[in-house]
Amino acid sequence: MSAVAANVRFSHRLVGESPAIQRLREQIPKIALSRSPVLLLGETGSGKEVVARTIYEANPAGNFVPIDCGSLVGTLMESELFGHAKGSFTGAGESKKGLIELANGGTAFFDEIGDLPLDLQVKLLRVLQEREYRPVGSLVRHKVDLRVVAATHRNLAKEVERGNFREDLYYRLNVIRLVVPPLRERKEDIPLLIEYFLQQLDASQAPTPELTRALSEYDWPGNVRELYNCIQRMVAVSSGPYLHTGDLPTAVRNHGVAAQMGARRLAVAAGAGAASSAAVPPPEPAILTLAELERRHVRYVLQYAKGDRTLAAHLLGIGRTTLYRKIKEYGLAE
Ligand SMILES: Nc1ncnc2c1ncn2[C@@H]1O[C@H](COP(=O)(O)OP(=O)(O)OP(=O)(O)O)[C@@H](O)[C@H]1O
Ligand SMILES: [Mg+2]
Repeated sequence: MSAVAANVRFSHRLVGESPAIQRLREQIPKIALSRSPVLLLGETGSGKEVVARTIYEANPAGNFVPIDCGSLVGTLMESELFGHAKGSFTGAGESKKGLIELANGGTAFFDEIGDLPLDLQVKLLRVLQEREYRPVGSLVRHKVDLRVVAATHRNLAKEVERGNFREDLYYRLNVIRLVVPPLRERKEDIPLLIEYFLQQLDASQAPTPELTRALSEYDWPGNVRELYNCIQRMVAVSSGPYLHTGDLPTAVRNHGVAAQMGARRLAVAAGAGAASSAAVPPPEPAILTLAELERRHVRYVLQYAKGDRTLAAHLLGIGRTTLYRKIKEYGLAE
């Protein structure tokens, strides 16, 4: 198995206007200028890799090399990381460069650094301290100049206490420390993320305000990744120009119902009658302009009609000339 983390499908824009994301965005240009190690902390799916790539892209030098420490297991892991000399072990017919060499002059992103086996932790420490390493089976030390960005969802200090992580490496890595908060602590970013994912997925559907509200109320234990997966699934299974609450996966939908019932009970207990929505102010729904809604609807009907413009015009109740004009105006021609 390769230790290069699977490529993320689309661009790595750090979306969000919550104070936490704004602050990260403000800090990044300055951090990008230094070569000090960065430690990114945050729950799974919260966007640590997006932040790592944003740091790199703010001052791109060399390659950005993601290294999935969780998959660095087995006998070939050291050679995967540091390369090997010709004939150094059975099967090593040719010499091979490791991931560290690929990252020379650039950035090595150690994803899930907490999973790095102890013997490789020692070797990584040497890279950080002495800026050199030795490929497997080679007597020659190689100089290397790279920036290390490491991420983990674990509490590394606790892992140090438990003896799973080397204290010296922890202090070496813990120079610039950034925390990516879980999505439930920045729910105001959810509508922006929904809009961004729909664009990335080239979806023709628009979310109803109720859906945006339901998605914004959910706690997202799997964070932004779970939100993305949810949107992707809804886009794939829903038909019609809108995504609505009926398309939601059961876990999210049930949560919404439970939350509403809870709010109603609270409101009743407080003697506030039916003013359940006053208990929890709903987040701002993503409002589309009429033109954007029309663009999406025309695109949806064209897809539905499998490109048959006569049929599409008929379904839309407009003339073919009008349809042609709209296709041109909205840039919908294939
Ligand atoms: N702020 C954001 N803006 C846009 N997309 C985001 C943002 N945060 C996360 N994503 C998207 O959510 C998904 C998960 O993000 P990412 O891989 O960076 O999380 P992670 O913290 O590295 O997760 P893990 O701990 O599981 O490795 C990716 O598809 C990423 O593109
Ligand atoms: Mg990751």
